[in-house]
Amino acid sequence: MTTPSKPERVHHPLFARAYARLAPSAESAGVAEHRDELLAGLRGRVVEIGAGPGLNFAHYPATVSEVVAVEPEPHFRRRAAAARSEVPVHLVAGTAAALPLADQSVDAAVFSLVLCSVGSPAAALAEAVRVLVSGGELRYYEHVRSQDVRAGRRQDRFDRVWPYVAGGCHCSRETESAIAAAGFTVTHVRRFEFEPRGIALPVSPHVIGSAVWRSAQPRLPGRAERTVRPET
Ligand SMILES: C[S@@+](CC[C@H](N)C(=O)[O-])C[C@H]1O[C@@H](n2cnc3c(N)ncnc32)[C@H](O)[C@@H]1O
Repeated sequence: MTTPSKPERVHHPLFARAYARLAPSAESAGVAEHRDELLAGLRGRVVEIGAGPGLNFAHYPATVSEVVAVEPEPHFRRRAAAARSEVPVHLVAGTAAALPLADQSVDAAVFSLVLCSVGSPAAALAEAVRVLVSGGELRYYEHVRSQDVRAGRRQDRFDRVWPYVAGGCHCSRETESAIAAAGFTVTHVRRFEFEPRGIALPVSPHVIGSAVWRSAQPRLPGRAERTVRPET
């Protein structure tokens, strides 16, 4: 008999407060434009995993019919509940490794500065695969491991302390490899160094990308979906 794994607990109230406080300057330094780029052209029902204080909400295009915003951290969730949006947003508690959504119930999944922080990127991406329809899209905006070997080693050293001060965030994750390993086909990616004040930081290497996931098996018509009522 296997023991079910303990649900992940995400509780970073100090980080959540600091993030929300620093957000306005980061947004005006370029992050807001990155969010537009991340979300452009999305349509249908979208799940945003680790929505934080809801800084993406105002950037969803009108072609999105609903955003299910999953956020485990209570302080972030309170902030997100007050965030402005032009499209319907349904905010729910939950973690990336156990999304409160039925199988094949969304057209797109969005990770925005989140795969650096989740307990297991592989588990989070597997959950995205579970809830996406075949042909569904993954959109991601993440800081990642540098492609420069020496810079990558510096990020490894930084990661000995960084997760403890930055809500579990890691600098040196190979997020693009994790996305490919989860079975996604990348359709577009832009890699760049984000250095708003001209200073290179361990979190400077960024990617904004989109990928598609296709089921190897055709979906059975009329298959009943597990209905999960999201809680707020
Ligand atoms: C740096 S913040 C980014 C917030 C937001 N996505 C944005 O673009 O501003 C990292 C987010 O990941 C969330 N997070 C951390 N671990 C998570 C997990 N296991 N499942 C889902 N979200 C998680 C945090 O609560 C937080 O909202």
